[in-house]
Amino acid sequence: MALSKPGPLGFVRSLARILAGRPQVPPSLQDNALLRRLLSRRSVRHYDDRPIPDDVFAAILEAGRLAPSTVNLQTWSFAVFNAAGWQERFGRTIPFRAQRAVIVLGDIHRDKTVLDIFPDSPLILYTVAVLNAGLAAMAMNAAAEALGVSSVMLSETGRTGLLDAGYLKETLALPDGVFPLTTIVFGYPKGAYPPMPPKLPLEQICFTGKYREPDPEVMTAWLHQMIAGYKASNVRSSFDAQLNVYRSKIGQAEVDLNAMVFGTPADPGSHR
Ligand SMILES: Cc1cc2nc3c(=O)[nH]c(=O)nc-3n(C[C@H](O)[C@H](O)[C@H](O)COP(=O)(O)O)c2cc1C
Repeated sequence: MALSKPGPLGFVRSLARILAGRPQVPPSLQDNALLRRLLSRRSVRHYDDRPIPDDVFAAILEAGRLAPSTVNLQTWSFAVFNAAGWQERFGRTIPFRAQRAVIVLGDIHRDKTVLDIFPDSPLILYTVAVLNAGLAAMAMNAAAEALGVSSVMLSETGRTGLLDAGYLKETLALPDGVFPLTTIVFGYPKGAYPPMPPKLPLEQICFTGKYREPDPEVMTAWLHQMIAGYKASNVRSSFDAQLNVYRSKIGQAEVDLNAMVFGTPADPGSHR
């Protein structure tokens, strides 16, 4: 399907809509500082050079450790870095010059050393691990926000997530059953706080009773805002170009993840 793009007027209108977007906090709850902080959370991609104190980072990791998980299986691992450790392991700075990073991995290896979890249901096991690790990632993100630390989760930028699974397996010596999902980079924000990117309205994502088909007008307006917002913050790129970066890496990642999670032999030739 060809991507519907906004015309010049639609572009301006879309940007105006983005800038007008605000979290909807019920008036009765506006005094709740933590709620306001969580609802105004943004993915931040510019950090200053203030280090994150050890106790603050320890609290963030503790939030990940204590996150909820299916049957409390805790099917995750965290590869933990400060700026120097990242430089040493990867030979470059943490993306966006953040101060700390946590690579969040799904882990169905650790529990298997003492327990056959769901031996005949590899897809369920994988899904459970992805879900649980995602929750741990979000718990760390929320703890960071509570402590005034910003973050962004990455799956592509800087070879940090599931799109570079094979590379990370090698670099971090991951055993089979341990697979990278996302890297969260943390720091104190620098410069203007980013505006809220286009979020779908509640009516579009909630339903009661039977599934509600998407409203084409709402979906097109959202897509146009995505395209306009992306262009406004990345003048030399585009939403389309970014999707193409993902498309170019997905084939290899699919092969690598299959091998890492399900033990299917990798056949890079068929996807390159
Ligand atoms: C799993 C995951 C992977 C992401 N990967 C990237 C990435 O590789 N590069 C990037 O700049 N942002 C990445 N993001 C951030 C999203 O672009 C961001 O969450 C989204 O645009 C919504 O913005 P918000 O977090 O400010 O609400 C990722 C987010 C998630 C949850």
